Amino acid sequence: MDPVTEKREYRDDYDDKTLYIPGPTEVRDDVIEAMAEPMFGHRMDRMTDLYTTIVEDTKAFLGTDNEVVILTASGTEFWEASTLNLVDENILVPTCGSFSERHANVAERLGKDVDRLEYEWGEAVKPEDIRAHLESTDKQYDVVATVMNESSTGVRNPVEEIGDVVADYPDTYFVVDAVSALGGDYVDIDEHDIDVIFASTQKAFAMPPGLAVCVVSDDAYDREVEKGESSWYGGFRRTTDYYDRKGQTHSTPAIPIMLAYRKQMKHMLDEGHRARDERHREMTEYVHDWADEHFAMFPEEGYESQTVACIENTRGIDVAATIEEVSAEYDMAFSNGYGSQLGEETFRIGHMGEHTVESVEALTDVIEDVAGL
Ligand SMILES: Cc1ncc(COP(=O)(O)O)c(C=O)c1O
Repeated sequence: MDPVTEKREYRDDYDDKTLYIPGPTEVRDDVIEAMAEPMFGHRMDRMTDLYTTIVEDTKAFLGTDNEVVILTASGTEFWEASTLNLVDENILVPTCGSFSERHANVAERLGKDVDRLEYEWGEAVKPEDIRAHLESTDKQYDVVATVMNESSTGVRNPVEEIGDVVADYPDTYFVVDAVSALGGDYVDIDEHDIDVIFASTQKAFAMPPGLAVCVVSDDAYDREVEKGESSWYGGFRRTTDYYDRKGQTHSTPAIPIMLAYRKQMKHMLDEGHRARDERHREMTEYVHDWADEHFAMFPEEGYESQTVACIENTRGIDVAATIEEVSAEYDMAFSNGYGSQLGEETFRIGHMGEHTVESVEALTDVIEDVAGL
C-alpha cells in the first residue's frame, strides 16, 4: 500500500505573507470581506442578480461580445472542457513549458490525437511556425491550443498573431490558455478570432481561487452543437443556455467567491482593461531593468511575460535559501524556477493583479539585501 501522508494539524497562527508567487496573488481587503455574507440559495433571485452582474461586468471589462462562463473550478477545467467540446480527433498544441505540455497531456488523456510543436523552454511560439505547420499537413486540426503566458518560463506568446493565422483556417478553432495573463495583459479577444480563452481567478484578476472564467465565441458554441458530444460540466452550450434562460449556473457555485468576484470586478472596471495593462507593463519594465542589473531575464528577448518574471540565476545564488530567508525575515513569498528543470536555474516573481512598481520594488530591495547583491 502507498504510504499515507501524516496529518499535520492546521493552526490559526500562520504569518501572513505578501504574495509574489505566480498565483495566488494579493487580494484587496474589501474583496476578502465581501465573502463573509450569510449564505443564500443558488436558485434565488439574489443569485441571478449576482451571476448576471459578474458575467456582464466581465464582458464589459474584457470588451468582448462573446459569451462569458464563470464556473466553480480552476482554469484546468477548461483544458478539459474545450478539448471535449471542440475536438473530434486532431489538436495541435505548441509546447514551450510545463503548462502548455500539460494542455497537450490532458488532450491525450481524453483520447485525442495530439500533435506538439515543441519549443525549448524559454522560447516563444511563433505564428509563422504555426502557419508553416498548418500549410505542410493534410491533417484537419479541430483546434490549435496555445498558452498565452507560460507561467513556468515567463514567456508571453503572441496569441494575437497566432489567432490571425488560425483565422485563415475556418474549420480550426483557436483555444488560448490565458490562466496567468488575462486581467493583467490586454488582449483583444474578438479582433483576433480567439474562440475560447480562459483564466483562473487567483491570478491577474486578483481574486481568491475557485472560479474559472472562459470566453466563448459563437463559432465555438456552434461547433460544439455540431459535434454532438461535449463536456457535461464545462459544456459551452449547457453553461451559456442556462445563463440565457435563468441567469444562473447549472449547478451550485461557490457563492462566497462570486461575491468576492463582484467586488473585485467593480475595481477592475474602475481601473479599466487598458490602464491595468499599462500598470502591468510598468511593473514588467521595472523588473526587467532590475534583472538586467543583477541577473538576466530567462525568456527569449521580446517575449517576456507581463505578469510573471522568470529570472535566470546567472550569479548562482542559493535560490531556495533566499526564498526561505525572504519569507522568514520579511514575510514576502516569491517562487523558485519551475520543477526540477528550472528550480535553481531561475526564480520567478509574480507581479500581477494588484501589485504596483512600488510593491515589487519592496521585494527586489529585500532580495538584494538577503542575497547580498
Ligand atoms: C498557464 C497556466 N495554465 C494553467 C494553469 C492551471 O491553472 P489552475 O491551477 O487554476 O487550474 C496554470 C496554473 O498555474 C497556469 O499557470
